[in-house]
Amino acid sequence: MGTDLAGRTVLVTGASIGIGREIALRFAVAGSRLALTYFEHRAQAEEVAELCRGLGSPEVLTASLQLADDDSIRMLVETVIDRFGAVDILVNNAGVVVWQPFLAQDFGEIESQIAINLEGVMKLIWVFLPMVNDAVITIGSTATLHQSRTPPTYCATKWGLRGFVKALAIERPGKRFASVHPAPTATRMNDMQGMSPDRVAEVVLRVATGDIEVEPGGDVDMRDYADV
Ligand SMILES: NC(=O)c1ccc[n+]([C@@H]2O[C@H](COP(=O)([O-])OP(=O)(O)OC[C@H]3O[C@@H](n4cnc5c(N)ncnc54)[C@H](OP(=O)(O)O)[C@@H]3O)[C@@H](O)[C@H]2O)c1
Repeated sequence: MGTDLAGRTVLVTGASIGIGREIALRFAVAGSRLALTYFEHRAQAEEVAELCRGLGSPEVLTASLQLADDDSIRMLVETVIDRFGAVDILVNNAGVVVWQPFLAQDFGEIESQIAINLEGVMKLIWVFLPMVNDAVITIGSTATLHQSRTPPTYCATKWGLRGFVKALAIERPGKRFASVHPAPTATRMNDMQGMSPDRVAEVVLRVATGDIEVEPGGDVDMRDYADV
């Protein structure tokens, strides 16, 4: 039998817009308590929170997060644990891309993508993992599964994350770990071109419930769910 998400506490990073917003709405319909992070779009995050309450979430917290800032990550764990005590499901969704060929990216752009997409997510998992009861679901990219024209720096961060999740799943067999890899998706990041972000959200929810079974640290390819 699958995991009942009602009353579970779910932390979704980057829930102000895009895929993270849709993930938050899906968990709200399932009756989960939510901690939603935003970086620059606080007003949008508050709107998402309000929508989530209306859809059935019993408790919604919004909090700022800058994944490139260690203090921000530490502050988030304090805020979330103060309010909820623990997290059942952590969804690592927040991420960035610089749409430039590798040699057109300066060192700062290379560093910031690694700091946000890879280092920041690893540090966030580091601080939260002892308080995560059930699952860590990380949003990767089909660029790590299939040849693509995705910029190399971004690709490197997502490959790194995918390997990290696999190794961590072996090290921590008591918790569920999975990577969900979106194909091009119609959000700000991809110039609103591609599959509906709600499709990704539905698959994330099905991984959370166990409806989609994933081996420890395994991969879910959104190309396999294009018609969800
Ligand atoms: N869209 C695609 O085609 C696609 C394909 C494959 C994988 N993905 C992955 O899917 C995930 C969601 O992407 P999306 O398409 O929904 O992108 P998006 O619409 O640009 O949303 C990105 C989210 O990440 C947050 N964020 C940005 N910089 C941050 C930082 N420094 N610290 C913490 N949070 C930060 C943003 O917060 P604010 O808006 O509040 O600033 C926003 O909520 C990412 O991991 C992305 O790599 C996307």
